[in-house]
Amino acid sequence: MPIIEIKGVSKHFPPSTSSLQQHQVLSDISFAIEPGEIHGITGKSGAGKSTLMRCLVGLEKPSQGNIIFEGEDIVPFSKEQIISYRKNIGMVFQHYNLFPSRTVGQNIAYPMEIHGVNYKIQQQRIEELLCLVHLENKYDVYPSCLSGGEKQRVAIARALANNPKILFCDEATSALDHETMKSLLSLFKELNRKLGLTIIAITHQMDFVKKICSNVTTLSHGKLVINSEDIGLIHESKGA
Ligand SMILES: Nc1ncnc2c1ncn2[C@@H]1O[C@H](COP(=O)(O)OP(=O)(O)OP(=O)(O)O)[C@@H](O)[C@H]1O
Ligand SMILES: [Mg+2]
Repeated sequence: MPIIEIKGVSKHFPPSTSSLQQHQVLSDISFAIEPGEIHGITGKSGAGKSTLMRCLVGLEKPSQGNIIFEGEDIVPFSKEQIISYRKNIGMVFQHYNLFPSRTVGQNIAYPMEIHGVNYKIQQQRIEELLCLVHLENKYDVYPSCLSGGEKQRVAIARALANNPKILFCDEATSALDHETMKSLLSLFKELNRKLGLTIIAITHQMDFVKKICSNVTTLSHGKLVINSEDIGLIHESKGA
């Protein structure tokens, strides 16, 4: 059974003051993601990638269609049900979004504080997570003293604090130099293998797709398109 299945999802935004027409951002998108996949979502700027991700994580409601998580449609969920659904999800973004006034350890603790995890368990989990992202000894450091790659590792550790089943990444490696990007791709692969983590990654970096994705979905103007170039890349990565 897929971990998440997108069935006929469309999204439009209401007319704005400058335009009387509804803004159709996603049109009849359908695809499925299997547990343990690293699934790339590609497409030009404005194609609707982040809007699709916002629908998948429950931050936006599709105008039409279903999003089936482990057999259950999340679209009709109430606010409370969405909060509970989101325990299954971690998210990382291009600009890390760390709290500058909190140390690395305190950043990673944040989602556990929100969920009322006992302090002692929080501390054990932070140690495990720092090990997992290869940042041992950085507990007391402030984000301003870290490199971009290290900041993203902290953001990943924080996203994994409550043991989510799916990690969503929106251009998580796009602000980093090539070497740092490569080391983060190895980390994603390692987390995928060690934890069985499903990763859904929006990226415009073909190296990301080529090196670690097992499948790719390409959007163009809000529609799902089959992109022969991407299929070539997938075949290349599977054969590698
Ligand atoms: N809340 C909103 N209200 C109206 N229009 C929106 C809203 N959110 C997104 N859009 C529009 O939806 C379209 C797709 O935006 P989206 O952010 O999903 O694209 P994207 O593929 O993630 O682009 P990028 O690669 O630049 O991040 C854009 O035209 C954007 O202006
Ligand atoms: Mg985007």
